[in-house]
Amino acid sequence: MQDNGAKQAEVRTEFPAVIGAALPRVDGPVKTTGRAQYAADYSFPGLVYAVPVGATVANGKIRSMDTSAAEKMPGVVAILHHDNIGPLYHTSSGHMNEQRQPLEDKLVHYWGQYVAVAVAGTLQQAQAAAAAVRVTYDEEKPNVSLKLDDADAKTMTMSKRGDVGAGFASAPVKVDETYSTPVEVHNPMEMHATTAVWDGKSFTLYESTQGVVGQQHTMAEVLGVPRENLRVISRYIGSGFGGKLSPWPHSALAGAAARKLNRPVKLMVTRNQMFCDVGHRPRTQQQMRIGATPDGKLVSLEQHYWNHTSQVGNYHENCGEATPFIYSTPNLEVTSAIVKRNVGTPCPMRGPGAVPGLFAVESAMDELAIKLKMDPVELRVKNDTLTDESNGKPFSSRHLKECLQVGAEKFGWSKRTPEVGSMRRGDTVLGWGVAAASWGAYRGSCQATVMLKDDGRATVSCAAQDPGMGTYTILAQIVSDKTGLPIDKIDVLLGDSNFVPGATSGGSTLTATVMPAVAEASNGAVQILMAMATRPGGAFEGKKPAELMVNGGSLHLKENRAAAVPFADVLRTAKVSYASADGRSGGLGSDTKARDYSTHSFGAQFVEVEWQPQIARLRVSRAVSVMDAGRIINMKTGTNQIQGGVVMGIGMALLEQAIYDPRNGHPINDNFADYLVPTNADVPEIDVHFLGIPDPMMGEYGARGIGEIGLAGVAPAITAAVYHATGVRVRELPVRIEDLLRSTVV
Ligand code: MOS
Repeated sequence: MQDNGAKQAEVRTEFPAVIGAALPRVDGPVKTTGRAQYAADYSFPGLVYAVPVGATVANGKIRSMDTSAAEKMPGVVAILHHDNIGPLYHTSSGHMNEQRQPLEDKLVHYWGQYVAVAVAGTLQQAQAAAAAVRVTYDEEKPNVSLKLDDADAKTMTMSKRGDVGAGFASAPVKVDETYSTPVEVHNPMEMHATTAVWDGKSFTLYESTQGVVGQQHTMAEVLGVPRENLRVISRYIGSGFGGKLSPWPHSALAGAAARKLNRPVKLMVTRNQMFCDVGHRPRTQQQMRIGATPDGKLVSLEQHYWNHTSQVGNYHENCGEATPFIYSTPNLEVTSAIVKRNVGTPCPMRGPGAVPGLFAVESAMDELAIKLKMDPVELRVKNDTLTDESNGKPFSSRHLKECLQVGAEKFGWSKRTPEVGSMRRGDTVLGWGVAAASWGAYRGSCQATVMLKDDGRATVSCAAQDPGMGTYTILAQIVSDKTGLPIDKIDVLLGDSNFVPGATSGGSTLTATVMPAVAEASNGAVQILMAMATRPGGAFEGKKPAELMVNGGSLHLKENRAAAVPFADVLRTAKVSYASADGRSGGLGSDTKARDYSTHSFGAQFVEVEWQPQIARLRVSRAVSVMDAGRIINMKTGTNQIQGGVVMGIGMALLEQAIYDPRNGHPINDNFADYLVPTNADVPEIDVHFLGIPDPMMGEYGARGIGEIGLAGVAPAITAAVYHATGVRVRELPVRIEDLLRSTVV
């Protein structure tokens, strides 16, 4: 653990609290005024446009490809395909989503798989040429079956304790149900894109990625150049939701085309292609069995789940992420199995595993509460535990019970009457539902550089990136916290693999990962100034650095706060342009103390739905989200994260699903007209509350991540509310009007 924060505290005067403040995003103005450059915004002399040709079958082999017409079209530079793309390599690290390279062979495993790429002088010319490539296939029937428990699926045990067979058999009250979640597509606002530049020796890839370092390492291997010959730039990113964690085939196509043609190449994935070629949350099927005593103590908990993956990937959706520790039970078993389908390759999507997994677990808990005639909040509190029973370790900081209690209070839960259809507002039937949330808390290793400059400004940089979560702002806050410089004097530079190694924006880990490095770098730069100021000719000549304190971007003697000397003056006096220091974060695993604890975030979601039986209309009308995620560094960006999660949860519960045509594997709703996501009209006021209890295992600031947990528990809270209003239990998402027409509530 990096502990020099404690050392610094002795020399730091109290600054206005910047940690926890509701600060607006420092990158807001550049984005809202259109000055932020995204991957596809870069242009260079001689740049050409690449448009991939997608397969129109989901299972088969290319029989013939006729590029002659396309090659003769205006502006066309090349039609690249299996026979002429040039070398693309597999990776030794295996950090590709797919276990093949694009155009590697003539086999087609999913609809939309790239089979060729048209390159031309303008986007329109390339689009026209791509459309003119004639491909025939030897087609076989694709398997996009929604039923996932294939007889030959290999089952793995993920967690086990006690004897669930005996436990379940002995339990007086039982739930045994199967839940399914559909394919969801990340669909970030900014589509994937690569602008690739080759200078004869090195690549520069302008990417939209959640990890510039990971992208650099993997793409260097894929393109067969040393890491130092491949630079990744991703300054601004229109979100990712997990779809931009690691490289997809289009990056390789853009890089290979740039090298082959010796021209800059821009390749933008289209919205339709976003449904095929850049990942999705896989379909899951989950059997839940819970046994309990009549007073609501869990006797056994079982989760047996399947997720689909592609023919060329082996992605496992870890639906049992939270199951082994969320409740106390002596008997538990979680098993998983992966089945292959003719679909694009799935990958992590916001709250991977836990989000669909908790839909099943928390739905089953709601069904158990109904069988027990017990309040669903009380049932969860009753089975709360402060020990992770999967490994016997105490939680570093677990306040699920408080989340449920605070949420119940804020929501007005005590006014709930449990009978189906028993609560009304005018002609509208109300349904109230609750669910627990959990997501892992972790921090990785990372470096950062802080420069204090003679113009009075500071710069902080590292090879991390901000896909929209608020990382730019958080870094400025840490520097401000350590130096007292105001936020508007701090420039944050991210999104370039040339900076000192940063970390991936993934798993809700980046804030906790990057903060210790930035704190250490800030402290280091201040220490350099203190040494400088006490040298001969310095403002504090004859004093020791330890006699100095830092306040408001200035140094002063402990006993004389009034006579403070700004950092810039210290530097100018010494004729030094800037003082620069690097800091380092060690991963959670490097902290021997932390190894003795189980680290997770928790939360509770409370939802109200309005059901109008007269016109079969369902609306989410209220949401209260209470989060136990450690200390919150920025109340505004933090609240936005949770609100965004709840919005996504409304989509998951009521709207989102990619539908594959069983005849040809085409995701038929591959566009924003047919794939529904919540709009403002679908989203009520979302009341977000943070417990704000610092996690002692998460470093000086005690912050855990909040990028994903806001989505956990939302869908099961909504389906619980739907049941309460309508009497219809929906176990296969999303809830459809057709499901609710079964309601007998009038
Ligand atoms: Mo998140 S699914 O780790 O981007």
